[in-house]
Amino acid sequence: MNKAVRKAVIAGNWKMNKTPEEAKELISAIAPLVKDAGCDVMACTPYVDLWAAQEAAKGTNIQIGAENCHWAKSGAFTGEIAADMLAAMGINIVIIGHSERRQYFGETDVTVHDRTRAALDAGLTVILCVGETLEQREQGITSELVAMQTKIALGGVSKEELGRVIIAYEPLWAIGTGKTATAQQANEVCALIRDTIKELYDEAAGEGITIQYGGSMNAANAAELLAQPDVDGGLIGGASLKPADFAAIIEAVTKG
Ligand code: PGA
Repeated sequence: MNKAVRKAVIAGNWKMNKTPEEAKELISAIAPLVKDAGCDVMACTPYVDLWAAQEAAKGTNIQIGAENCHWAKSGAFTGEIAADMLAAMGINIVIIGHSERRQYFGETDVTVHDRTRAALDAGLTVILCVGETLEQREQGITSELVAMQTKIALGGVSKEELGRVIIAYEPLWAIGTGKTATAQQANEVCALIRDTIKELYDEAAGEGITIQYGGSMNAANAAELLAQPDVDGGLIGGASLKPADFAAIIEAVTKG
C-alpha cells in the first residue's frame, strides 16, 4: 500500500465562526468550486450551523461535520452535545481533541479518548487531533508526546473501528499563527503517527489510515505540504472560511 490508496481528505474547521444564514451562504459558495474534487471534502461547523450547512450541502460532495461531542450518551452536562444527537441529525463526522479544546476547555488525553469512544460507538467518523506546543518541540519531546496522545486516544479502539478514524497532526505553534510547519516537519510527524498506528495495530492499518496536517495551511503552501508522502490531507481553519482559498487547497490535492 502507498499514498495513492489512502483516502485524501480536506476538512474545514470553522471554529466559532458563522451564523446559520452565513453557513448556508458559505457552503453554497464553496460547492460549485469543489464539485470535481479528487478528495473527500468536509466542513466542520458550530453546532448551531449544522442544520443549515447540511441543507445547503444536499446534492453536493461536501460532507458536514461537528467540532466536538461529549462522551456520555445523555445526562447532566449543561452546554454539551452527545454523539447520538449528531448521528440522529445525520451528521457522520466529528473533530475530537482539537488543541483549542485542550488549551482553553480543559480537554485532556483521557477526555479525548472518552469522546472518541462515544463518537465511534455512535457510528461517527472521528478527526482526532494531536500535536505539540512550541515549548514541547523545543524540549525535543514531540515524538513521545504525539505518540502518547495517539495511543491514549485510541485505547480500546478496534482495527475495524480505526477505519472511521482520521488523524490530524496540528502543531499548536502553527495554528492560526500564519506560521506553517515546513513540509519536512509536517511529514516527519505524520510518518511518526503512522508508525505508531503500525505498532498499535499492524502494517496495513498504518498504511491505510488517513493522516492530515493542520496549521496555517493555505492556498500558497498546500501543494508542497500535500505532496509529502505521509500527508494525506489537511484540516483547515482560517482558509476554510474563504471559498477560493479552500477550493485552491482542494485543487492542490487533486493535482498531487
Ligand atoms: P488554521 O487552523 O488553519 O487557522 O491554522 C487549523 C485548525 O486549527 O484546525
